[in-house]
Amino acid sequence: MAARDELIRLQEELSEERRRAGDKEVQLERYASDLRETFKAERARADELRLSYVATVRALTNAVEARDAYTGKHAERVAAYGLELARRVDPGLAEDPQTEFGFLLHDVGKVAIPDGILHKPEPLAAEEQQLMRRHPQIGYEILGEVPFLAEAARIVRAHHERYDGSGYPDGLAGEEIPLAARLFAVADALDAITTERPYRPSAALAEARRTIAKGAGRQFDPAAVAALDAVPDDVLEAIRNETS
Ligand SMILES: [Fe+2]
Repeated sequence: MAARDELIRLQEELSEERRRAGDKEVQLERYASDLRETFKAERARADELRLSYVATVRALTNAVEARDAYTGKHAERVAAYGLELARRVDPGLAEDPQTEFGFLLHDVGKVAIPDGILHKPEPLAAEEQQLMRRHPQIGYEILGEVPFLAEAARIVRAHHERYDGSGYPDGLAGEEIPLAARLFAVADALDAITTERPYRPSAALAEARRTIAKGAGRQFDPAAVAALDAVPDDVLEAIRNETS
């Protein structure tokens, strides 16, 4: 009889243990589902934030572009060229949104340049040129006020530096110039050469490639020029068609 009682007691204990384990499992599942929900909400918030960053940058870019009628979607085009180069040199840099923001906003400082200078078809007088050359610094100051654009601001400041140190505003040379700005310089030159301007017709891609190659080690980082060599014509042409 004692053995049978013992057996019943053990069976009861076992089923009690199973019930508790079941409760715990349910609790864990609920906990996991709460975590999933929190994660989903967090990700949605991050997406929303990222999209509002992008929208802000686009709005600013459009405000700059609106004044510069003849270059069309210059900022968008040059950003696409620049990212294409960045993908070949440093994929992480290409994926960093700050890189694209810096490319898109490179000329934001031109908001401070009077129309008479910005749209002057003739070469600028010395003091006009001096004023014009302040736009990277002004752009840097404008974006410096925006915490999420801090890295983009560095690109904006350095976008007219030259590899040999003869650029402005800081006369940086070689690797002192942020890599993104070194890549940008090639992208910007490519766009300038292949886009029609009031004072000259546009040149063919092959001619642009030759002109840029001549500037390797002087105006341009040789690695950035090599990156351009690695981008096939049809990729560049597709960008041009999408943004003209
Ligand atoms: Fe510029």
